Amino acid sequence: MLYRLYNSQDLEELYAIEDVCFEPPERFGRKYMGRLVGSPNGATWIAEQDGRMVGFAIVEWAQDAGEPIAYIETIEVLPAHRSHGAGSQLLTCIEDSARSANAGWIWLHVDAGNEGAIRLYEAHGYGCEGTEENYYAPGRAALIYAKRLDSETAA
Ligand SMILES: CC(C)(COP(=O)(O)OP(=O)(O)OC[C@H]1O[C@@H](n2cnc3c(N)ncnc32)[C@H](O)[C@@H]1OP(=O)(O)O)[C@@H](O)C(=O)NCCC(=O)NCCS
Repeated sequence: MLYRLYNSQDLEELYAIEDVCFEPPERFGRKYMGRLVGSPNGATWIAEQDGRMVGFAIVEWAQDAGEPIAYIETIEVLPAHRSHGAGSQLLTCIEDSARSANAGWIWLHVDAGNEGAIRLYEAHGYGCEGTEENYYAPGRAALIYAKRLDSETAA
């Protein structure tokens, strides 16, 4: 598996993965996705096998009381390629990008029913900081997970 940064020719293939991995209301719109991957304050990593994109992850960062704080927009791996470590490696890649942007913290929303993703974040040291009821839709809560980034291990 090859891990590399996004380039503008990747958008169509990347959005095809979004289409497979999420249904509305969680699926990002195409325009919104285009804005996310083009953000100057973020990084998008691609997982590629035999020249085909099989997953991606997007992180953004912003100033929060003087310290940049990073936010994971999404991590997605095509079903046929899951459980082989691609999600873990993509998570490591976006954490390294966030550290390089001097982010002290990284956080995310995850659907309270998304057991696979919750296991992935917990295995990487994320802790649950709270719940946002009705975040995805009425009756569909998000859990908030966060992790302190250790700047000494910055890539
Ligand atoms: C969440 C998601 C990104 C995880 O991707 P993944 O590539 O399966 O992640 P990993 O392979 O790193 O880890 C998943 C499991 O595979 C196991 N695994 C890791 N490397 C492995 C290997 N070499 N061989 C076998 N299993 C392995 C991990 O232990 C983990 O097991 P667990 O779920 O029982 O704890 C993926 O399930 C997905 O795309 N889900 C849909 C989109 C989504 O919900 N994204 C999260 C948004 S918040």
